[in-house]
Amino acid sequence: MYLVFLGAPGAGKGTQATRVCEKYNIPHISTGDILRANIKEGTPLGVEAKKFIDKGLLVPDEVVIGLVKQRLGEKDCQKGYLLDGFPRTIEQAQALSEFADITNAINIQVDEKLVVDRIAGRRMCKCGESYHISWYDKDTCAKCESKLYQRDDDKEETVKSRLEVYKKQTAPLIEYYEKKGVLSNVDGSQSMDKVFEDIVRILDDND
Ligand code: AP5
Ligand code: MG
Repeated sequence: MYLVFLGAPGAGKGTQATRVCEKYNIPHISTGDILRANIKEGTPLGVEAKKFIDKGLLVPDEVVIGLVKQRLGEKDCQKGYLLDGFPRTIEQAQALSEFADITNAINIQVDEKLVVDRIAGRRMCKCGESYHISWYDKDTCAKCESKLYQRDDDKEETVKSRLEVYKKQTAPLIEYYEKKGVLSNVDGSQSMDKVFEDIVRILDDND
């Protein structure tokens, strides 16, 4: 199972990826999470990536492609993986096709108004859990009790730019994977459980 999750910022890629990876026991590879971890540790990659992420722009292709290529070469990726937030440009997808055979690209569809609301209300924990103020009113994580925080790039101005970048640079990947015959669309505006159910049905049907 070699999966790609597509979808606008806030569509629910991370939320669903966590569940899918747990069910099928495959690694969850989120380029956003890897880049944020590097920023936190202050690595040279993190310092470079921060300049782009803070503006809501994409980190240059060659940086991200190198990062993913290296990660997919690790042992735990031999029997499958889920890519969350990669590829994000046609160039990234073409590079990926040279070292991976994607079996399913799941496109989580959500309209713009809803994603803005989801991002504005999102609260994160350092353990990776994510919450939304509409259904979670505590300021500590239910799993590890750490203090929740808002992502730096979840500010209104940055969100606008992330959505523009998505439309211009990432949305063309829907057609790219459709032409390859591996694309499935999922209605991401449904409840988290229903979205998960739909994804599982698609993946189990393809077995
Ligand atoms: P990245 O971290 O990938 O962010 P993103 O694509 O903007 O997506 P998000 O993580 O914001 O949203 P999500 O779809 O994961 O939604 P979530 O599940 O959290 O990238 C960040 C930055 O890194 C980029 O801008 C770029 O600069 C850089 N970068 C990363 N990858 C790159 C690449 N390949 N190339 C170049 N640059 C790259 O859900 C959102 C909220 O909604 C949560 O609060 C959640 O609880 C809630 N929610 C989710 N599903 C539901 C539901 N069904 N019902 C109700 N609420 C829901
Ligand atoms: Mg995410």
